[in-house]
Amino acid sequence: MDRLTQPEVILDTRKPLAGKTILITGATAGIGLAAALALASKGAAILGVGRSEERGAQAAADLRSASPGVPIHYFTADLAAQRQVRRLGEEILQYVTAHHNGKLDVLVNNAGVFTSWYTATEDGFETVFAVNHLAPFLLTRELLPLLHAAPAARVLTVSSRSHRNTRIFWGDVMLRRFYNPLLAYKQSKLANVLFTAEFNRHLSGTTRVRAYAIDPGLVNTEIGLKNNYGVVRWVWNQRRKQGVDPSIAAKTIAMVASRPKLDPADGLYWRDCQSIAPSRYALRADESAKLWALSEGLCGLADNNSW
Ligand SMILES: NC(=O)c1ccc[n+]([C@@H]2O[C@H](COP(=O)([O-])OP(=O)(O)OC[C@H]3O[C@@H](n4cnc5c(N)ncnc54)[C@H](OP(=O)(O)O)[C@@H]3O)[C@@H](O)[C@H]2O)c1
Repeated sequence: MDRLTQPEVILDTRKPLAGKTILITGATAGIGLAAALALASKGAAILGVGRSEERGAQAAADLRSASPGVPIHYFTADLAAQRQVRRLGEEILQYVTAHHNGKLDVLVNNAGVFTSWYTATEDGFETVFAVNHLAPFLLTRELLPLLHAAPAARVLTVSSRSHRNTRIFWGDVMLRRFYNPLLAYKQSKLANVLFTAEFNRHLSGTTRVRAYAIDPGLVNTEIGLKNNYGVVRWVWNQRRKQGVDPSIAAKTIAMVASRPKLDPADGLYWRDCQSIAPSRYALRADESAKLWALSEGLCGLADNNSW
């Protein structure tokens, strides 16, 4: 039979993620929006999270026009505030239960910030640590019931090459005594890999959910233009010109989200669609366990450890 008389065959090839539900934080700009576009084009239902309702509505419209017929829904939450992360988790639980059979196939923890000056969140935590590490930690915990319900769910957390050549500053994790924007960002991106490795150690015996870290490379986005001094904005404007388009970075996210068979033994840390070794520090089980315990405490989960 002619291929053209078998549209369902053609459809299967073009929409390999039809029936999958993928949640992406920071899906209103940059790498997150590009990943949403890439995954929607493969047929996945996209749930996006942004801090601005207006930018969320615009991103949803862009996705619907690029991939007509694919289910798209955006949520609004400021991930700097744990109260909002918890409220977001509840909204997603209700929405996914009502519209997506109560299962989430992939969670992409992508939202991130780089800020020139020290700011504290309403919970009293340093903002970069709160948005880049504590929010993914807490949101992943809140969404575990949906991830458990999927056949083999994945948690992707967008880290960075910046996680190398640094450490967790245990004496002053919030960098209250001496804030350095680069150190704050590097520490948070190291925390992303430590979280990923510890998630697999912690949950592999009890669940099929597996975690992976993504290194998008240098990407031409506006991350260094938001909440930053003039000189930092100028430097980032020069530097980002060397970066790739967000659609290139999104390919690694799409690959790790959609590869049919994948296990952390195949690679924990992915860049340019290939697994590479993260820093040795990022693989230290003592450090990841210590960060896990600290994060549970800071997210108010320590008394009710049900991971
Ligand atoms: N660009 C690079 O070269 C590079 C390299 C390595 C790693 N990364 C990582 O890639 C991820 C995405 O960065 P990007 O370069 O694509 O930056 P971006 O263009 O600024 O996008 C960041 C996204 O996160 C959202 N966001 C920021 N703070 C938030 C908050 N408090 N609550 C909810 N959403 C928030 C932003 O919303 P708005 O649209 O409202 O700003 C935006 O959607 C980050 O984790 C970053 O660390 C980037």
